[in-house]
Amino acid sequence: MQKEIKKIAVFTSGGDAPGMNAAIRAVVRAGLYNHLEVFGIMRGYEGLIDNSFKTLNSKMVSNIIQQGGTILKSARSKLFMTKEGRKIAYNNLKEKGIDAVVAIGGNGTFTGAKVFQEEYNIPFVGIPGTIDNDLCGTDYTIGYDTAINTAMQAIDKIRDTANAHNRLFFVEVMGRDAGFLALRSGISSGAEAVLLPEISTHLQNLHLYLETGFKEKKSSGIIVIAEGEEEGGAYEIAKKVRTDFEDYDVRVTILGHVQRGGSPSAFDRVTASKLGVAAVEALLLGENDVMLGTKCGKVVSVPFSTVIRKDKKIDQKLYDLLTVLNY
Ligand code: F6P
Repeated sequence: MQKEIKKIAVFTSGGDAPGMNAAIRAVVRAGLYNHLEVFGIMRGYEGLIDNSFKTLNSKMVSNIIQQGGTILKSARSKLFMTKEGRKIAYNNLKEKGIDAVVAIGGNGTFTGAKVFQEEYNIPFVGIPGTIDNDLCGTDYTIGYDTAINTAMQAIDKIRDTANAHNRLFFVEVMGRDAGFLALRSGISSGAEAVLLPEISTHLQNLHLYLETGFKEKKSSGIIVIAEGEEEGGAYEIAKKVRTDFEDYDVRVTILGHVQRGGSPSAFDRVTASKLGVAAVEALLLGENDVMLGTKCGKVVSVPFSTVIRKDKKIDQKLYDLLTVLNY
């Protein structure tokens, strides 16, 4: 029989994402609503190992739904990848009497949670928090929508100066090995081309595009590049284009960590609130070893083993729109 859940803990881990605070707030409030004691673990798995726990009450999560970052801080823990590290983490949870854990993070977080689950019997439920949107089994991860909007607004600004000088800009956006953020920020900012790791022919496509009449149609342009694309990133590609098309005035911008910060969008806040409450309900119903995500707006529960598969497909139809929209 499943042990009754009285105490839960929540932590954020991996790269922070806007909306993590909204998720923490939802977990804490849902825990208290269900008469549970709720602990926050500082700095993800690092805090689990160095015993950095604090009791959270309702007031402590007031006024955070609109804040980027994470009040629990975040980290990527090397120690948790070791058997010894996980044993210390387990002993700390046991010693505090914690019955179940909510983990908010991305691929690394759930890979860690899955290994922990195979070794120890404390239930873990995950909430997807990453700007990369690279987790299988969910349409959206928390932070992705905000990051798209941040990148789009930055690219809008770059377009003003690109236009003023008749320049071709290569803008690199984050996303680790995945092109989700690049594709949506590119489509929404009217990019002339988007280069993604998922599309192997992208460099030929770009050459073709620049060769076949780009100059006649446009005086300036924006090429969005996903940081994970395989030709070497924005600087490398810009270098090749400079060599092959000497008459283009080329510039490069790397958007970087600006995409991780800022106040979360309404969409991310609502998703985080839904999933935070659902995570606590799932634990109370005896779920374990799963992440809660959304599919077509509905909350779904996906095994960690599926979540971390790293084979989430990009929306090919959305990518194909670029050809039409840049005709
Ligand atoms: O996973 C989120 C992310 O921002 C990726 O898009 C990026 O590749 C990585 O984290 C950057 O990590 P760090 O903040 O450790 O430089």
